[in-house]
Amino acid sequence: MQILSSRLSPVKPSASAWVSQAARELKAQGHDVIDMGLGEPDFDTPEHIVEAAYAAAKAGETKYPPNDGTAAMKRAVADKFSRDNGVDFDAKEILVSNGAKQIIFNALMASLEADSEVLLCAPYFGQYKDMVLILGGQPKEVPCSADNAFLMTPQDLEAAITPQTKWVILNSPSNPAGATYTKQELQALAAVLLKHPHVLVMADEIYEHIVFDDFEFISFAQACPQLKHRTLIVNGVSKAYAMTGWRIGYCGGPQELVAGMNKVQSQISSGACSVAQAAAAAALIGPQTSVEEFRLAFERRRNLVVDRVSGIPGLSLDPPRGAFYAFVGCTKLIGRNTPDGTTLSSDVDVTEYLLKDAKIAAVPGSAYGLSPFFRLSTATSDQILMTAMDRLAASVAKLYR
Ligand SMILES: Cc1ncc(COP(=O)(O)O)c(C=O)c1O
Repeated sequence: MQILSSRLSPVKPSASAWVSQAARELKAQGHDVIDMGLGEPDFDTPEHIVEAAYAAAKAGETKYPPNDGTAAMKRAVADKFSRDNGVDFDAKEILVSNGAKQIIFNALMASLEADSEVLLCAPYFGQYKDMVLILGGQPKEVPCSADNAFLMTPQDLEAAITPQTKWVILNSPSNPAGATYTKQELQALAAVLLKHPHVLVMADEIYEHIVFDDFEFISFAQACPQLKHRTLIVNGVSKAYAMTGWRIGYCGGPQELVAGMNKVQSQISSGACSVAQAAAAAALIGPQTSVEEFRLAFERRRNLVVDRVSGIPGLSLDPPRGAFYAFVGCTKLIGRNTPDGTTLSSDVDVTEYLLKDAKIAAVPGSAYGLSPFFRLSTATSDQILMTAMDRLAASVAKLYR
């Protein structure tokens, strides 16, 4: 008897889930594992945001909320887009969902046909590809090299577009590489897209507030207003406000698309949790001091990790412009042998070795479509990061040719 739909067969078990599971098992056996696989801020949600949720629950905001978002949250999202991004959306162009993930899923579900292609800049957030596969679309990977700061070039974009291209997903700053586009870089991509009016742009800007070295983040729709009518800006409160567990994401985009996404959402989950929306609205319109505090901590940690990794022979890491990950190149480790005589032949082997020897959980680059690399999340305390870097250096030093 075949229980599972064939739609699931192209979706491979996720490498990051494997890494977390292996780390949990080692921890359960009493090992001191440092989990650098997790993509979530280690800070607590700021107090005023928690208070807003409490107040909403006390005030009886506990019934089914409107499918597309509460009026207060949609106003907060509109205000946020105009304040931070200089882009105006009216209420019908905004949708609030259970995390940015559901925004992305809704958008793909509402728009993909079986032959639709979705362009992904590799390395990419793994869920983009899996969602496209589950929905029966065609993910198309565009390798974006470390030499070009993992950014998609206009030439690569032009070469990848076909009549079937439905979307290009631009994630800036990106998970896993911290690739972040300047205004000029976005405009160069827009010049290509202007020639291809059938292509939609999904601008996943969930890490917009986590940028370093005075880098000026700019939203795709602000940099390229002539493409706003076919751009969906994806965002959420998980990363900027340390609210991963509250599950609130939102978007601004063309009314027809947003209406389609709303229809999808109404069949799957209905409106996102009312109390969490009250908290998210407070996050967006309330004091923004914690956003800068978090950013400064992430910058300090980024510097610490870049500094230490670049001193480890065999590893390479240019300072990422944003997000809270280090996407470490490990080409020179491939072919080396571990103390027990195993030859490392892929980044999966490297992460397995690091878990076993250094007790560090890292995710192989293959999970993000680009090898040989591994991703370390830097969203953990400076002290833990320093211990992790010591262990990483010691384990790499044990490898021999
Ligand atoms: C690039 C990117 N987009 C979207 C998400 C999903 O965020 P949310 O927690 O709002 O579902 C993540 C989470 O890791 C991410 O890294």
